[in-house]
Amino acid sequence: MKTVAVTGAAGKAGRAVVADLLAHGYDVLASDLNAPSEPPGCSFLRADLTDYGQAVEALAGADAVVHLANIPADGLYPPAVTINRNTAMNSNVFLAAAHLKLHRVAWASSETTLGLPFDVDPLFAPIDEAHFPHPTSTYALSKVLGEQTAHHVCEWSGIPFVGLRLSNIFSGADYARVPGFQHHAELRRWNLWGYVDVRDVAQAFRLALEADTHGSQNFIIAAADTIMERPSADLMAEVFPRVRITRELRGNETLLEIGAAADILGYRPEHSWRDNLPNDY
Ligand SMILES: NC(=O)c1ccc[n+]([C@@H]2O[C@H](COP(=O)([O-])OP(=O)(O)OC[C@H]3O[C@@H](n4cnc5c(N)ncnc54)[C@H](O)[C@@H]3O)[C@@H](O)[C@H]2O)c1
Repeated sequence: MKTVAVTGAAGKAGRAVVADLLAHGYDVLASDLNAPSEPPGCSFLRADLTDYGQAVEALAGADAVVHLANIPADGLYPPAVTINRNTAMNSNVFLAAAHLKLHRVAWASSETTLGLPFDVDPLFAPIDEAHFPHPTSTYALSKVLGEQTAHHVCEWSGIPFVGLRLSNIFSGADYARVPGFQHHAELRRWNLWGYVDVRDVAQAFRLALEADTHGSQNFIIAAADTIMERPSADLMAEVFPRVRITRELRGNETLLEIGAAADILGYRPEHSWRDNLPNDY
């Protein structure tokens, strides 16, 4: 799998994924609706993936695809636009991969499929891949539908699919917000205080291309720790006192279970907010 198409290449995750794949010797065919702010160091195609023909063009010549292009959150567009565009992009890319007989599809699902925001208690903690599907928005529902589409296109085509249920992606300047989270446990309850560094997102997608997986599998991808200084057990006791804790919680460990990604993909997050704080903190 030498040549990888990367959709959404001009975006936050896309820029890191392209740089990581190039650094690891892959040839990259980058595409996005918008031109990147800096040259990506590889070929680049402007393409609107809500159009099937443009999705075929974006993937042509690749052995595999990392599919990141989507509207990345709720509230950016009217709810129906989010689900309609994301569903069109995901099904077009998956069907284009099948048409072109690619060898693998790795794509961005989301932690939101697991029940975020947790205004309502999770059923248990740490939450794992089984805490699914609990979409509460059209964005989350677009990812749930994407996982279902991936499952069936995988069955029809025989192509292995890996969906990564990414936590909230942090990079560079995002870390300046972390000190402000510490005094209010409620501020980040919405995703159980989860996050993931964009460089670990890139690592996870590279592993998703390389791992020996079959069928369509979906993995939670988060940092190894929460975004809080307080221990994870204390956070749960204060904010979610009625939630069943399924095992002993060690220190600041993530409440978004990453054991499956570790076991099957070999995912080992290398970055923590603790190493990325502003100098004056
Ligand atoms: N940012 C997060 O915290 C987060 C968390 C979980 C999952 N995700 C998912 O990860 C992926 C990447 O997110 P991101 O943070 O890099 O978002 P981003 O907005 O920075 O990048 C997404 C890219 O998709 C492109 N795009 C949008 N519509 C398109 C279209 N019709 N055709 C072609 N390209 C189009 C945009 O131009 C953009 O560059 C998305 O699928 C998002 O849903 C993001």
